[in-house]
Amino acid sequence: MTVLVTYASRHGATKGIAAAIAERLRERGRAAELRPVDAVDRLDGAEAVVLGSAVYAGSWMKGATAFVQRHREALSSLPVWLFSSGPTGSASDQDWTPKQIAAVSRDIGPRDHRVFFGAIDAEKLGFVERRIVKAVKAPTGDFRDWDRVRAYADEIADALEGES
Ligand SMILES: Cc1cc2nc3c(=O)[nH]c(=O)nc-3n(C[C@H](O)[C@H](O)[C@H](O)COP(=O)(O)O)c2cc1C
Repeated sequence: MTVLVTYASRHGATKGIAAAIAERLRERGRAAELRPVDAVDRLDGAEAVVLGSAVYAGSWMKGATAFVQRHREALSSLPVWLFSSGPTGSASDQDWTPKQIAAVSRDIGPRDHRVFFGAIDAEKLGFVERRIVKAVKAPTGDFRDWDRVRAYADEIADALEGES
């Protein structure tokens, strides 16, 4: 049985967070498989799922919500942990939870959801994205907090250990 760590990422920051979670789970002795959401056909053989998405305009990426709809039944009967790779910059009081989390939580009943700071590499952005980033004054750079990411993976590993 494996823990499927799957992600929707446009520019790679979310993929990096998912990879760090998978790596930590492996260090904790779990077989973890890392895949983009579009490359997952079936959830057979998964003992648990970690699903993450980048956040654009306050929303999860379409591929991540489509993944939930496609696998809704299987996800409802598995332990699932969610994460979002969202804001850039430093901590604030604003709630950055993407719109879709409430409905996804109703649909599949995940164990938890965590918002992580993300990354924006200005060099990778196209013209439109560059204008949006400038308009909303989103800080560019890599704000991913690897300790927080690994701590989430540890929580997941602890929960799975408690169940097996
Ligand atoms: C055009 C643009 C719009 C964004 N909009 C949001 C947003 O509404 N909320 C948020 O939390 N983060 C927003 N972000 C930040 C991204 O979610 C963050 O950089 C994320 O880590 C990118 O992940 P990716 O590289 O996997 O695509 C935006 C970034 C860009 C470039």
